[in-house]
Amino acid sequence: MKTTVNGIDIDYDDIGAADAPAVIFIHGFPLNKSAWQAQMDVLKKTYRVISYDLRGFGGSGGGEAPFSMALFVEDLLALMDALRIKKATLCALSMGGYIALHAVEAHPDRFNALVLCDTQCSADANVGKAKRRAAIKSIRDEGVGPFADTLIEALFSSVSMDRYPETVERVRQIILETEPLTLERALEAMREREETCSKLPNIKVPVLILVGEADRITPLDTAVYLHENIEHSHLTIIEQAGHLSNLENPKQFNAALKKFLTAVTH
Ligand code: MLT
Repeated sequence: MKTTVNGIDIDYDDIGAADAPAVIFIHGFPLNKSAWQAQMDVLKKTYRVISYDLRGFGGSGGGEAPFSMALFVEDLLALMDALRIKKATLCALSMGGYIALHAVEAHPDRFNALVLCDTQCSADANVGKAKRRAAIKSIRDEGVGPFADTLIEALFSSVSMDRYPETVERVRQIILETEPLTLERALEAMREREETCSKLPNIKVPVLILVGEADRITPLDTAVYLHENIEHSHLTIIEQAGHLSNLENPKQFNAALKKFLTAVTH
């Protein structure tokens, strides 16, 4: 489905009863809403589940403006307004988690609970900023292929690379199909994002933190930091998973997600 919000077309799925508790999924970089299919499938009988393509990704328009966390948050709030959702639970992975943390900071009254997956509250350090610049240069000079190859190695655990070649290939295709301009703009938005660590004590809603045990991009210590600084938080480590914990071990991921949602919505 598509709706025009904040000056762009947003491609989204909205499944389940309109009056059921709303759970909104926010994908990581550089994926799209299809990454949440396994979670949407198990939750749709009990919840109103919404997944959407962030601007520029999947079927959503990119618009003219440079991307920023603030702009992604505006899109999210505009989508919630368009779908008449006053309050939602967010389930967000990595860059999606950066957006969720900025969203709850700016609009605490719009969210019931958060599920933060394979994400962090820090801004990019100088080394990280330099890596973003190098990635943008590589995409411009050599195209998306080499960038996709390098990223795939970082996203998946080595167990998943061997065990789930079809999932790895599917993610590679999503990366290759993403507009180079969207990749650049999102890399710039992540490079320029503000930290949210100093705001974690303000989060008063229940939070589930999930992290793949072999996550190389946002490793376990970043999840532990979130857990130690968010008052009502619970941490679950997803076994045999890397950065894409919901795709790499959906069984354990979904069990933890369902248990948390049952506790916070009933
Ligand atoms: C993501 O999965 O969204 C990105 O890897 C996050 C990042 O590069 O900081």
